[in-house]
Amino acid sequence: MKIKNYSAVYRIIHWSIAICMVLLLITIFLRLTWMNKNNVAEIIQNYLNTTDQSLTQDQLIVLAKKIRQPMWDWHLYLGYVLTGLFSIRFLLPLIGEMKFQNPFKKELILKEKFQNFIYLIFYGCVVTSLSTGLLIIFGPATIKKSMEAIHVLSIYYLMAFLILHICGVLLSEFTNQKGIVSKIISGNK
Ligand code: HEM
Repeated sequence: MKIKNYSAVYRIIHWSIAICMVLLLITIFLRLTWMNKNNVAEIIQNYLNTTDQSLTQDQLIVLAKKIRQPMWDWHLYLGYVLTGLFSIRFLLPLIGEMKFQNPFKKELILKEKFQNFIYLIFYGCVVTSLSTGLLIIFGPATIKKSMEAIHVLSIYYLMAFLILHICGVLLSEFTNQKGIVSKIISGNK
């Protein structure tokens, strides 16, 4: 199978998106683990138990969220950067760069059809995550809860895509597309 050439624009956008997504995943991971509000509240509670002071559970949670906020601000910053990057990515085909590949093209082999189809699903899911994220912040209060319910599901497709994508790329590298990894990093040398 012929290996594609990845232009500088393609590579810059690809790796900018990849880095942002990994950092975004780290913020989600921290929120679910070490910086989980219940964990932090428990740490504060345990400390207060060794002193003569006490706080209600609600106060502990407010304090825990305040401690977590500077970390979580990065989730929002990365969300804004990703919105910009994906907007650029969706506009690039207009100038002939990073064109979308049609998964239904007859001449493609099954693996390529599957790969292109996965990218389309991924883009659909990303648009949903970004728009629900923006609506949580800037949308009307009445839809906030339903937007949150959809937004929190993002982690599932993101993990599934990353595992599939990295395994797919490695499989290509070690079978019929040797050099694909170095091409997406340093281009067509
Ligand atoms: C968070 C991590 C990553 C994300 C979100 C991501 C996302 C994507 C997306 C959406 C595409 C399709 C671009 C398009 O044509 O529209 C793509 C292509 C590609 N990615 Fe990644 N990627 C990630 C990490 C990686 C890594 C670690 C590698 C290599 C080791 C890699 C190698 C490639 C290659 C070779 C292509 C081109 C495949 C083709 O020709 O269709 N990616 N990536």
